[in-house]
Amino acid sequence: MSMTDGTGPAGGAVAPVSDTSSDPLLRPRRHGHVGRPLARIDGPLKVAGQAPFAAEIPMAGMLHAALVCSTVARGRIAALDTGAAEAAPGVVAVMTHRTCPRLSPPPVFLSAPKAGAGDDLPVMQDDRVRWNGQPVAVVLAATHEQAAHAASLVRVRYDIEPALTCFEEARARGTRPGEFMGEPLHVAVGDADAALAAAPVSVDVVYRTPRHNHNAIEPHAVTCAWQGDTLRLHDASQMVAHAAWSIARMFGIDEAQVVVTSPFVGGGFGGKCLWQHQILAAAAARLVGRPVRLVLTREQVYRIVGGRSPTEQRVALGAGRDGRLTALIHEGTTPKTAFNVMPEPFILPTRSAYATPAMRLDVQTVELDMLSNTFMRAPGESVGTVALEGAMDELAEALGIDPVELRLRNEPETDPVSGLPFSSRHIVQAWRAGAERFGWDRRNPVPGVTRDGDWLVGMGCAMATYPYYRMPGGAARLTLTRDGRAVVEIAAHEMGMGTATVHTQIAAERLGLPPEAVTFAYGDSTLPGVVLAGGSQQTAAIAASVIAVHRALVAELLTLAGNDSPLAGLGPDEVGSRDGGLCALAGPGRYESYASILGRALRDSVRVQASAPEPQETRERSMHSHGAMFCEVRVHAVTGEPRVSRFLGSFDCGRILNPRTAASQFRGGIIMGLGLALMEETRFDGRTGRVMNPSLAEYHIPVHLDVPEIDVIWTDIPDPHAPLGARGIGEMGITGTGAAVANAVYNATGRRIRDLPVTLDRLM
Ligand code: MOS
Repeated sequence: MSMTDGTGPAGGAVAPVSDTSSDPLLRPRRHGHVGRPLARIDGPLKVAGQAPFAAEIPMAGMLHAALVCSTVARGRIAALDTGAAEAAPGVVAVMTHRTCPRLSPPPVFLSAPKAGAGDDLPVMQDDRVRWNGQPVAVVLAATHEQAAHAASLVRVRYDIEPALTCFEEARARGTRPGEFMGEPLHVAVGDADAALAAAPVSVDVVYRTPRHNHNAIEPHAVTCAWQGDTLRLHDASQMVAHAAWSIARMFGIDEAQVVVTSPFVGGGFGGKCLWQHQILAAAAARLVGRPVRLVLTREQVYRIVGGRSPTEQRVALGAGRDGRLTALIHEGTTPKTAFNVMPEPFILPTRSAYATPAMRLDVQTVELDMLSNTFMRAPGESVGTVALEGAMDELAEALGIDPVELRLRNEPETDPVSGLPFSSRHIVQAWRAGAERFGWDRRNPVPGVTRDGDWLVGMGCAMATYPYYRMPGGAARLTLTRDGRAVVEIAAHEMGMGTATVHTQIAAERLGLPPEAVTFAYGDSTLPGVVLAGGSQQTAAIAASVIAVHRALVAELLTLAGNDSPLAGLGPDEVGSRDGGLCALAGPGRYESYASILGRALRDSVRVQASAPEPQETRERSMHSHGAMFCEVRVHAVTGEPRVSRFLGSFDCGRILNPRTAASQFRGGIIMGLGLALMEETRFDGRTGRVMNPSLAEYHIPVHLDVPEIDVIWTDIPDPHAPLGARGIGEMGITGTGAAVANAVYNATGRRIRDLPVTLDRLM
C-alpha cells in the first residue's frame, strides 16, 4: 500500500503484503486503529494556542533569567563587574561562579543509563572559560526585558589563554580514533587499499559538510521552582527521565526529588536534551528561593546548545566493469571536544549499505576548544550519505551504468560487516517503486543538456538509511476502569511527531476500545520508563512497553475473571480483545466485557505496570530502515540559483502505524535535508571559536517557497523483529536527501559540488 498524503490510497506499484507481525495479539483481531490516518490528538490544542509550552507555565512569584555568555574561547574570568546590572530596574540578583550553588559535574550522555548531559563540564563552578559562548552570569529580574537589559550591563574581563579552535590546525597536529555508543568508529573487512588499486574502475573523492546548528521552532526554555526539597522543572525535553536523574545527581539529591515535565515540545531533533540552561535556572531558583524562568534567545541556542560538527570525508570505490563493488573506503575526520562523547559518526550508513568483499570505514577526531557538539537529526547518516551516495553517483557515471541500477547490483544478502541476517530489507522494492512513480526513465544521463528556458534541469537519486535502535529501560503503567476507559502512562515525549496519537491508536487496538476511550499520558519524569525520544527509537520503545503492560493486564483480568467466566482456563496468549472486553482467539463466541469482569470482581479499576523485555532483536539481526530518494532540480543558467522542483521519498521502514503522521515525519526530514543540501551552514570563526551567524537571518533554513511538493510512498512491510513491526521513521527523511539534491545538480549542470551547502556561488 502506498499513500501520498496520508488521507487515502494512491495506488502505485507496491503490492500490499500480508501481515507477518510477530505480535500474536495484534494479528488475529484487528480493529483498524493501527494504520489509520488519525489526525494529531494534540493538534486542536496547539492551533488554539492552548498547549502550554515550557516558557508559558505560570508560577507565582517567578523571576525571569537572562544569560551573559563569554566572548572568548579559553581563559579565566579576571574581573566580573555586576554592579551596574544589580542596580538596574527590576533586578533581584546576579548569579556568577562565586555565588552559584555547588554542583557536581553533569553526567554526560551514555556515561550511565539515565545520564543526559551534552558534556561533563562544570556549570558555573569556577572562573574558567572553556568555549566561546559559555554562560558566565545569570541575571534575575522581575521581567524578561529587565533581565535582558541588565545582562547587557555585566562587564567581564578575561585573561585569555591560547585556544585551539581551527579544525585544519587541529588536524595538522594529529587525529585520534573516534568512538560512538562505546564502539570504535572503525570497520575493516579484507584489504580495501589493495582491492581499490586493483579495481578496473574506481572513484576516490573527498566531500565536506559544514557545521550545523539546531533551530527548532521553539527555542530552549525552562520554568522551574524548588517546592520544599523538590525541584519542579517544566522543560522542553526529549529525555525527561534522563534529565530528572542527571539534575538530581548534580544537586546531590534523590532522583524522586526532581520532577521534569514536558508535555509539549516545539521540535527537538536531538537538541532538546540537557544543557546548561536547565541547570542554571534550577541553581538560580535555589539561590534566590523563587521560581525562575529562563528562555534562550535564538542566539543563545547557538552559544550553549550543541550542534552538528563539520566533516571531511573521503570515499573511494572500486568496481568491476559490471558495476559490482570490489572495494569501499569511507574515512575522514570530524572535530569534537574533550568533554563529550559525540564525534559525528558519518560512516554509520556505509556499514550495511552495499555488498563488497573489502571495506574500510574509519572516523578520526580532533578536539577543539568549542561548545560540545551533539546529536542532530540522523547524526552520521545525514552527512555520511552525502559522501557515500555522492561517490556512488560518480561511480555510476564512470561505469556508464544508471545510478539506480548500480545500487540494485550491489544489494547485499546479509549484513556486509556483521554477517547477520537482515530483519527485513525491501530496499529493492523501494527503489523500483520510487523510480517508476518519479519517472526516473525520463532522466537524461548526459549532464548539463536538459533545459527549460533559462533553467537547467536535472534528476538525481540517493539511498536513505537509518538503523533501528531500542535502548533498554522501557516500561509502562496501564489503568483500566469498569466504564471501559484506559490510561497508558509512560515517560515518553511528544515533540510534534505524533507520539501521543499513534500510541493511543496502538493501545486502543490492543484493548479493543475506541481511541476516544484511551488516554496516553507522557512527558513527566515520574511516569514509568526511561525512554529517549532520539535515535528514531521512541516508537519501538513505547510499543514494546505497551505490549508488555497489556499482556500483564490481560493476565490480571483473567485471574479476576475466574472460573465463572466464559474465558475460564485461557492463558494471556490465547486471548484477544474486542468491543470493550476479552475474547478467545480460537472461538470468538467466548467473550466477557471488562465491565462484567471487573463488576464480578467488585473492582472499579485494575492497574498494572510492566517493563519491556531487554532489546534482543538487534543482537540477532541487522536492523535498518531504507529508502530511495529522487530529486529534480532546476539551476538558473545565468545566476546559478538552485531550486528543488520535485522530490520523492520511497521508504522501507516496516509497518506504518499512522500514515498521516508518518508522511509528515518523512516530509519534515526531507525538508531538513533540503536545508542541509542547499543552505544550512554555521559560520565558525576559526581564530576565535565564535559562531558568526547565530540567527535565522544569517543561518538559512528552508521556508515554504524553498519546498516543492514532496511525494512520499512506502512499502509498509512489517518487520517481524520489531515491536508491532515498526522501525523508526523520525530521522530517515534527512538521510540521502543531501546527496539526491547534489546529484541532481550535477545532472542539471555538469558541476559536481562536493562541499555543502550547494549555494549559487559554487555553481557560477
Ligand atoms: Mo535524534 S538526533 O536522535 O533526536
